[in-house]
Amino acid sequence: MVEFWRSTIGKKTFVAVTGTILVGYLILHMVGNLNSLFGPTGAEPRVDWYAGWLRELGEPLLPFAGALWIVRAILLGSVIIHITGVVQLRFRNRDARPARYPARKIGRSWESGVMMTSGILLAAFIVFHILQFTTLTVDVTPLHHEQVYFNLYNAFQEWYFVAIYLVALILIGVHLRHGIWSLVQTLGLDSPARNRGIRYGATTLTLVIVVGFALVPILFWTGLLDAPEPPAATITAIAGGLTG
Ligand code: HEM
Repeated sequence: MVEFWRSTIGKKTFVAVTGTILVGYLILHMVGNLNSLFGPTGAEPRVDWYAGWLRELGEPLLPFAGALWIVRAILLGSVIIHITGVVQLRFRNRDARPARYPARKIGRSWESGVMMTSGILLAAFIVFHILQFTTLTVDVTPLHHEQVYFNLYNAFQEWYFVAIYLVALILIGVHLRHGIWSLVQTLGLDSPARNRGIRYGATTLTLVIVVGFALVPILFWTGLLDAPEPPAATITAIAGGLTG
């Protein structure tokens, strides 16, 4: 395995396989987020029920949030291997290049530049995103633990959060469109007869992921999704304010 990782094709394969895992997560995350479109109705918003279900998954075999932590570990491992592989391949490529060919004259180099830039910006977005909705550290708008609908509703009343998420989704689109095509090539699944179909497939999958994610901020911001009930803590505070 270590020998395989050291070879160029080994690194490319690791980058492709971890990329596939991350695309798989993106699809699941996008579908999970679509639970927000059911609105705040019922005893609890459907997206909150879904977030709770994710934490209870695997109980009692696994402890509370056990499955979630396994997924988090796989994601973190995949991100680290993906980035390390890409950076090492980039250096290897540069070292192997004769000095008389500047980087910009090599074919496909603009594409790898786009992948690098979009990848770095995406990594920054993911850190910001986790600090906002998972650890609730970026609390510019009201946030409550395990009140996903409430948190999303409040964040996406602000145009600048809608803008940040839509820009991130454009970056995801660019990164995925190129990435899916490269991983198909690395895994040796391309062939002249299939390439046209594969390119259409990559574009379609990218569009489905980007539009699926984008619906959530857009529908909250345009007011098509109703305001949630204030969480119990807020109601108590309001009642306290009225009587106090
Ligand atoms: C409009 C787009 C998005 C929305 C509305 C959204 C929403 C959320 C929310 C509400 C959470 C917290 C879930 C919970 O507490 O159960 C979350 C977590 C997360 N999101 Fe997103 N997300 C979006 C796009 C993305 C994208 C594009 C990525 C990756 C590139 C991503 C990666 C993550 C990760 C890694 C977590 C942490 C999961 C965990 O450890 O529990 N999200 N997202």
